[in-house]
Amino acid sequence: MTIDLSNLNILVTGASRGIGRAICKQLAISGARLAIHYNQQSDEANKLAREVGNKSIAFKADLTHPKDAIQLYNDVIEEFGHLDVLINNAGIALSTEIDTDDLVWIAAWRQTMQVNLEACALLTKKIIPQFISRGGGIIINIASRAAFRGDTSDYLAYAASKGGMVAFTRSIARAYGKQNIKAFTIAPGFVRTDMAQEFMDQYGESYALDDIALSQLTQPQDLAPIITLLASGMADHATGCTIDVNAGSYVH
Ligand SMILES: NC(=O)c1ccc[n+]([C@@H]2O[C@H](COP(=O)([O-])OP(=O)(O)OC[C@H]3O[C@@H](n4cnc5c(N)ncnc54)[C@H](OP(=O)(O)O)[C@@H]3O)[C@@H](O)[C@H]2O)c1
Repeated sequence: MTIDLSNLNILVTGASRGIGRAICKQLAISGARLAIHYNQQSDEANKLAREVGNKSIAFKADLTHPKDAIQLYNDVIEEFGHLDVLINNAGIALSTEIDTDDLVWIAAWRQTMQVNLEACALLTKKIIPQFISRGGGIIINIASRAAFRGDTSDYLAYAASKGGMVAFTRSIARAYGKQNIKAFTIAPGFVRTDMAQEFMDQYGESYALDDIALSQLTQPQDLAPIITLLASGMADHATGCTIDVNAGSYVH
């Protein structure tokens, strides 16, 4: 089976590091042209764009702000003309314990929802009319095992944001399937990135390692082949599904 994405334009958010970066590398090997979104890591994103080739371009946006998300979409369309696939991967995990000051605690919730859920929703809202006018498209949302298993007491907002992402993805799949729009959720367990490192620094590496069935912690590149397959359109009849990539740590 050959996966050829050479005619596809794909936006990957949060692609300067970690999972997003690994996804971009794999998609580019299959020929896709990438809109590599970043927030702070401009050098990394631009270096990746040069490395992967295929006329890929890096785009900046702080997804805390709706205006930036809208601007990101407009900037990408101006450069690329259209998009075939949207991968909502950018995310944050803020640790806030229950005894944190109420207003500080809820501010962290808001920030989490803005980046993890609202930006994903807004980019999806922007892209759907374009997908409809072009006869279809694919949306892949990177949620988390936490949406299903729950999380620790200091990551309640994170788990809730990812739960929202799952429900949102399923709704898009059901509502727009007749317009040939497909939507998938990926639910990773711990993946060795900066985000997981912060958690492991706090809880210890054994917290992440002890409950996986495999011997090695998942690496960002372990997610990329499945996402490339979904982007190809070869798995369209799985629309609405969630694919767990958690090394057997939560089987449901
Ligand atoms: N790592 C895990 O164990 C794990 C497990 C389950 C799910 N996930 C999910 O997988 C996705 C990728 O995670 P990761 O581990 O690769 O994370 P990461 O290494 O921390 O990278 C996060 C990415 O998101 C971008 N980002 C952060 N804040 C942003 C903001 N305000 N506006 C726009 N972009 C922002 C970052 O951009 P800059 O670097 O340019 O600022 C970076 O590219 C996330 O949605 C995460 O929740 C991760």
